[in-house]
Amino acid sequence: MKNVDVLLGLQWGDEGKGKVVDYLAPKYDVVARFQGGANAGHTIEFGGHKFVLHIIPSGIFREGTKNFIGNGVVIDPVIMMKEIEELTNMGIDPKKNLFISQRANLILPSHRLLDAVYEQSKGNAKIGSTLKGIGPTYTDKIARNGLRIGDILYPNFEKKYYGLKSVHMNTALSLGPIPDCRIDGYSISEYETLWLQAIENIKELNIVDEYWLNGCIKKGEKVLAEGAQGTMLDVDFGTYPFVTSSNTISGGVCTGLGIPPSAIGRVFGITKAYCTRVGAGPFPTELYDETGQALQKIGNEFGATTGRPRRCGWIDLVQLRYACMVNGVTDLIITKADVLDSFQEIGVCKTYCVGEFIEDMPLYLDDVEAIIEKLPWSPIKKDLPKTAINFMNIISNFCNNTPIMAISTGADRDDMVILHE
Ligand code: IMP
Repeated sequence: MKNVDVLLGLQWGDEGKGKVVDYLAPKYDVVARFQGGANAGHTIEFGGHKFVLHIIPSGIFREGTKNFIGNGVVIDPVIMMKEIEELTNMGIDPKKNLFISQRANLILPSHRLLDAVYEQSKGNAKIGSTLKGIGPTYTDKIARNGLRIGDILYPNFEKKYYGLKSVHMNTALSLGPIPDCRIDGYSISEYETLWLQAIENIKELNIVDEYWLNGCIKKGEKVLAEGAQGTMLDVDFGTYPFVTSSNTISGGVCTGLGIPPSAIGRVFGITKAYCTRVGAGPFPTELYDETGQALQKIGNEFGATTGRPRRCGWIDLVQLRYACMVNGVTDLIITKADVLDSFQEIGVCKTYCVGEFIEDMPLYLDDVEAIIEKLPWSPIKKDLPKTAINFMNIISNFCNNTPIMAISTGADRDDMVILHE
């Protein structure tokens, strides 16, 4: 039964996935997060309100949709419980429709400290981490040292917690004096108090095993796997080492949810009509001029998690076709097309120059020059002008004829031109 569809970002994250998940959610019984943690920020706008979710899946605003946090996700209990409290204050009862894998790894306060210490020790080679503890937590998971959600129900949990914390403190000390680091405004010991309290509160939530999601699939329920970050931040296929620490591509869905590849159906790939990146690392089509600044301002390109300004540039089809390939994208969704409306001409990159001209992704992007072609543009309304149709055809053709399913033309839930269901 191919009951699981996947929705993920094809660029460097921030493609507008939250809005698209929210739009698709009514067609699904379960929305599931399979990787990442609170480094993600999924923005959803409806009824004049704006919400940013960091850890809870984006189906939470839809009555009756179940939301699952898979084993591939790393959870900071303080951030998750704060988000639950905010949703509860809005009249949503996340406890009813939220299910958490017993195998999801926990982000400890000392993981967050280590994130800051490691980033500081990198000097000029900083990757611009969100400092949410993501890298150190996945490191512990792979090194088989991590603590998992299910562990909190065992009597030896505190002992394990203090043991791992002490390993972290020694590691941090070995790199130099521990910086006077604050975690989201709190001292480390204040954050630890909040963390231990949040652990108690998580015990009241629905902690589930692998039979839960597989049981939903067996009953014929439809699942939407919601990706975080984007393909170019994938730890294997992104712009390594300037990446996050998880598999953001469709391949991560099976390992991040505990479901078989035979369950996967459609793969919805989200791309902006232009391109952005937050944090450090190569970005071939980046614009350093007033056009880049205009895209940033009109597109309101400031990070949902950290508030950092996003670097902006034209759409990169070499990168996009590569992303379609590694994910097996079946449907493309183009977001923020309306942001281009202030320009009479837009840019598109189909070739890189690295001494020779290439159309395929090299191992490193550092010395790549993006060759930009210009296209005319006229504003998008409810129906698409010829210039937009031409642009969409170029994207689809270049990406091996992957069909475009929808174009988002504004921030609100309803600003969407649907080309096929
Ligand atoms: P980390 O995963 O928080 O350590 O960040 C690693 C890199 O991925 C940094 O360049 C971040 O800016 C970037 N990153 C992490 N999460 C997101 C996201 O949700 N959107 C965009 N960039 C992200």
